[in-house]
Amino acid sequence: MSENTNAIDAITAVRPSPGEKYFPKFEVTPELTEKAKELIALYPEGKEQSAILPIIHHIQEEFGYVCPEAMPWIAEMCKSTPIHVAGIVTFYPGIHRTCPGKYHIRICRTIACAMAGSEELLPYICGKIGVDPASMTDDEPMAVSPDGLWSIEAVECLANCGFGPNLMINDTLYSQVTRRKVDELIAEYKKSNPLQLKS
Ligand code: FES
Repeated sequence: MSENTNAIDAITAVRPSPGEKYFPKFEVTPELTEKAKELIALYPEGKEQSAILPIIHHIQEEFGYVCPEAMPWIAEMCKSTPIHVAGIVTFYPGIHRTCPGKYHIRICRTIACAMAGSEELLPYICGKIGVDPASMTDDEPMAVSPDGLWSIEAVECLANCGFGPNLMINDTLYSQVTRRKVDELIAEYKKSNPLQLKS
C-alpha cells in the first residue's frame, strides 16, 4: 500500500522548470472544458476513456507539459482514475511531465544517427545551451537551460535515418546536423526569440 502511494507520489511529483515562464500555467477554463467535451464526444457513450490521450495532447500543446494538477481533472472528465491517467502519461516518452524550454530540441539517438555523429553532438549542444547531459536520466530525460529558453531530450528514430544526425527544434526537422549547423541554429532561434513571457 505504502509502496503504491510512493509510486503515485513519484509520478505526480511537481517538477519545477525554468521553461514555465514561456507557457501559461495550467488552469481549468471554460474553453479547456469545452475542448475536452468536444474530444470526448468523438467517442461512443461509455467510452469516455478513449479521449484521455487526445486531451493529454491538447494540454501539452497548450501548457507545454502535463502537470500533476491536470491528471485528476482529465480523469474526472473521462470517467477514469488519476492513476490510470498517470499510467498513460508515464507510458509515452513523447508526453512531458516537465515543462520544456521555449525551444525544445529532440536529438535522435538511434543507431543510424548515433553512427552519423549524434552521440558526439548531444554533449556539444548541451554545452551550448548550458545544461548538464548527466542530468538527462531515464526518469527525467529532458534537461532545461537555466534561462528556460532551451530544453533537450534524446529520442528514438525521427524517421529520417538516411540523413543523420537528425534533430528537431519544436516541430521543425534538421538533418545532417554538424557542430557548425548547431551554432547557426542556436544563433538564429535566439535572434527570433521575441521574449514574450507569459503575463
Ligand atoms: S535513426 Fe535517426 S532518424 Fe532514424
